[in-house]
Amino acid sequence: MAGRPDCWRDSEVPGEGCDAPARAVFLLGFMGSGKSTVGHALSRQLEWRFEDLDERIQAREGRSIAEIFRDSGEVGFRQAEHRALRELVEERPPSSPVVVALGGGAFVQAENAALLKAAGALTVFLDAPVDELWRRCQNEDEPDERPLRRDERQFRQLYEARRSRYMNALLRLDTAGKDVESIAAEIIASLRLQFKLPQKDLGEEK
Ligand code: S3P
Repeated sequence: MAGRPDCWRDSEVPGEGCDAPARAVFLLGFMGSGKSTVGHALSRQLEWRFEDLDERIQAREGRSIAEIFRDSGEVGFRQAEHRALRELVEERPPSSPVVVALGGGAFVQAENAALLKAAGALTVFLDAPVDELWRRCQNEDEPDERPLRRDERQFRQLYEARRSRYMNALLRLDTAGKDVESIAAEIIASLRLQFKLPQKDLGEEK
């Protein structure tokens, strides 16, 4: 029997377990890991759509991330994050293939990881030494936009607490010392992603 034409990817082994080419990639990792920057580069290289989960949360809620944390606490933010991710996942088959940048805590939440696993999503952990992540987060114009980027000690503790969850991603990439375009190219090669998918694979014929 032919594989499931509507799946994003349902195998641990890229290219196996699903006849249809992958149509979504989810980038995850700690604050400062470059999820959005690499995501934009990846979407440009693939000519796929780009989506930032934090942007979707803010649009749905009509509030900035900082405002959600301030008014509803982290619990409220996680609920909004889960709703936004579920909505995104349920949009499949997407009209066009998509690269998604998750927020730093999204994949750490068991229900979000389960949702992505059940959808057969390709997940990529962008890793870097915590010193490097902290340094990258210092050079920001709007530090208030990351409510969980507190002092350096808490930043390191949170990274250590989360790392084992990030390791559950299908692919882990070391990003230290690499430029954004070559990280994107490495993701494409490792996951054997296809450029410009044929229309029949986009579910648009139905
Ligand atoms: C968070 C990271 C942020 C944002 C929110 C919570 C986290 O996204 O989702 O502030 O829990 O690490 P970035 O990783 O894009 O900064």
